[in-house]
Amino acid sequence: HSGQAETRHDRKDAPTTDRDRVAIIGAGHVGATAAYALMLRALVREIVLIDSDPAVAEAEAADLSDANALARPGKIWAGTYADAASARIAVLTAGAASHGAESRLTLAGRSADIVSTCVARLVEAGFAGILLVAANPVDLMTLVALRRSGFSAARVIGTGTLLDTSRLKQTLAEYFKIAPGAIEGLVLGEHGDSEVAAFSTVRIGGLTLEQFCKGGPEIDRIDVERDVREAGYEIVMGKGYTSFGVATAIVRICESILRDERTVLPVSTLLTGQYDITDVCLSLPCVLGGGGVERILTPKLEPEEAAALAASGATLKAAIAATLA
Ligand code: LAC
Repeated sequence: HSGQAETRHDRKDAPTTDRDRVAIIGAGHVGATAAYALMLRALVREIVLIDSDPAVAEAEAADLSDANALARPGKIWAGTYADAASARIAVLTAGAASHGAESRLTLAGRSADIVSTCVARLVEAGFAGILLVAANPVDLMTLVALRRSGFSAARVIGTGTLLDTSRLKQTLAEYFKIAPGAIEGLVLGEHGDSEVAAFSTVRIGGLTLEQFCKGGPEIDRIDVERDVREAGYEIVMGKGYTSFGVATAIVRICESILRDERTVLPVSTLLTGQYDITDVCLSLPCVLGGGGVERILTPKLEPEEAAALAASGATLKAAIAATLA
């Protein structure tokens, strides 16, 4: 014994989670890609992969560990829900996968069973962190996770339309030949067929879309909204699934939480009366910090956008009644 008096800081106020650990549940295309992206960003020192097929989790962890030696020091392993218990964030990617032109909402029943089981095991293990849901249909699965976990709504977040918003920015950036990062703008509502490209929220250097297009060709908003809405289907038709876009959305959300950035991102969260919508999860711009959703923002929308958002909420509520009741 060193004889030195041990000085142990009072850790009563310490978070009950290990800020340096993220658990990823589901080591499929999305989960493995998210683990890879998280490792390359070196946001955490520990990534634990959990899958219903341990052999898959082991193989993905081994493959990632080979990359890890060349990336940043960290520890990636196939673990259990006990390992996930102390994680700062648990990313839930396990769910039914859509095929071809199958709508995401048709997956609700199958995904709900998987999500409920995973969340029950997390709660059982004593998980005290933030739950980030990426399983589709993500808005319904976020509600399932919220109900099954009993966590506060701030702690249960869905990737939502962050991916669609990224697609909108990329589409506008290519059209106008400017950097996607220079474009503000939001896709709101369901991450799916009823999503709303809120063009009135677009700002480029402080200019609205109309002001930016002045004198030049006006962009075809119907085409752009359709391209953004259909992007996921196009990719699934080509490669059978999507992974890089949603995995990068997962990592961006993790980053804002882990670093308490309080950035504003459109993510799926429980609405409590915003735009007169309640009891459904859908995407609105949220301030994301260490506690998860710190604040839900309600930008002024054009009448047709507000109507489309209400319709999106109604679509999701009908799907909830039909498949989750
Ligand atoms: C997509 C999946 C994540 O839109 O729904 O790529």
